[in-house]
Amino acid sequence: MTAMYDVESVRAQFPILSRAHQSGQPLVYLDNAATSQKPERVIDAMTRYYREYNSNVHRGIHQLSEEATAAYEGARKAVARFINAGSWREVVFTRGTTEALNLVAYAWGRANLGPGDRVVSTVMEHHANIVPWQLLAAERGFDLVFAPLTPTGELDMDALTALVSGGRTRMLTVAHVSNVLGTVNPVAELAELAHKHGALICVDGAQAVSHQPVDVQAMGADFYAFSGHKMCGPTGIGVLYGRRAVLDATPPFMGGGDMIETVALTGSTFVSPPYKFEAGTPSIAEAVGLGEAAAFLEELGREPIQAHVELLTDYATERLSTLPGVSLVGSPRTRSGAVAFTVEGLHAHDVAHWLDMAGIAVRAGHHCAMPLHTSLNLTASSRASVALYTTVAEIDALIDRLALVQKELL
Ligand SMILES: Cc1ncc(COP(=O)(O)O)c(C=O)c1O
Repeated sequence: MTAMYDVESVRAQFPILSRAHQSGQPLVYLDNAATSQKPERVIDAMTRYYREYNSNVHRGIHQLSEEATAAYEGARKAVARFINAGSWREVVFTRGTTEALNLVAYAWGRANLGPGDRVVSTVMEHHANIVPWQLLAAERGFDLVFAPLTPTGELDMDALTALVSGGRTRMLTVAHVSNVLGTVNPVAELAELAHKHGALICVDGAQAVSHQPVDVQAMGADFYAFSGHKMCGPTGIGVLYGRRAVLDATPPFMGGGDMIETVALTGSTFVSPPYKFEAGTPSIAEAVGLGEAAAFLEELGREPIQAHVELLTDYATERLSTLPGVSLVGSPRTRSGAVAFTVEGLHAHDVAHWLDMAGIAVRAGHHCAMPLHTSLNLTASSRASVALYTTVAEIDALIDRLALVQKELL
C-alpha cells in the first residue's frame, strides 16, 4: 500500500468497522457497491443539525432557518467543488441516482424526445438507467437502443459509435463505472462522440464518485448523477449535475413549494436552477451529511483513494482468478471497485450465505443489472466490492473462506 495512504487510520474513523459479526469473526464488509459505510464526522454533522439548528430552509426569517439554509447551501457548494461544477447552480439535490436519472428522463426527455428520436444506452447499465427511459419511450415514441459489450466486458465502441451516429440521436446515457463488471468507461471520449453527433450525454456516476476524481467540466458531461450513500454520505440524498444552459432550458420535474417564482390559479412561473428542480422541503440533514462526506473524501485525497481502490480491486481480481472453479464476470482492462464472480456448482446466494457465516458481506443476485446478466447467459453472480477502507487482509479472508466453502460443499 502507498505510504501516503494509511488505511488503518482511515478505518478508525468508521465506527461500524469495529463491530462484531454474529459469527464472532471480524466484519469483512465487501458490499460497498450497494452502499458504503459512514465516517464519524458525517454521522456527527447530521446529529449536530438535528440537535442544534433543525429548521426548514429558504423560508424562515429566524436564526435557526438561516443556519439551516447556510448549511444546506454550504453542502451544495462543497459538492460543486467535489465534481468541479462550473457553478453551485448546476448542482441539484435529489433523493439519489435513481431520482436524478428519472429527473433527466421526465424533465429533459419529456420536453425534447419524440418519434424519430433516439436515446442510446448500453447493456451494462443499472436498471435505474434503463427503466425510466423505457417508461418514457412508451409514452413519447422514441427509439431506445443499447450498445453491446465486448467479450471482456467493455463497451463495444464500434457498435456504440454506429448507434450514436445513426438516426437522430438526442441522448447518450451511460454508466461511468459498471456496478457489476467494474468496467471504467471512457466518458470524456463518449461525451465527445455524443456532442459530435448533436446529442447530449448523461453519465451515471453512482459507482465512480467515491473511487476516483471526477471533473464534470473536463469530462464534458451534460448531466452527471450520483448518490450520497455510496460515497460515505447518508441515504436519501443524491445529486444531479446539469450544465447550466441545459438546466435553464429544461422544464421542472416536480411541482410544489420552493421551486416557484409566482403562482396564480391560472398558472405559475419558476425560479432558476437548481431550485426549479427542488420542489418541497428537501432532505436537509442528508444534504449536510453529503457535504461533510465530500469534504472528508477531498481531505483524504481523491488520487490516493483511487490508487488504493484500484490496488485492492486488482488484488481481489488476481486472487479470485487463481481459485479453481471460480469464474470472473468480465475482464475489463480498467476495473474499479466491483468484482463479480460465479462458483461452479454453487448458486450465488449460497456463496453469499456461506461467506456471511464467516462475517464476510458480499452481494448475490443480478445486482439490478438483469440485461447484463442475460447477455452473459447468467441468472446471478456474487459480487465483492471494495472501498477506501478495505484491506488486503479482508480480500485474503474472502479467498480463504471461498476455498474452504468449495472444499466442504463440493
Ligand atoms: C451504477 C448504478 N446506477 C444507479 C444506482 C442506483 O442508485 P440509488 O439506488 O442510490 O438511487 C446504482 C446503485 O447500486 C448503481 O450502482
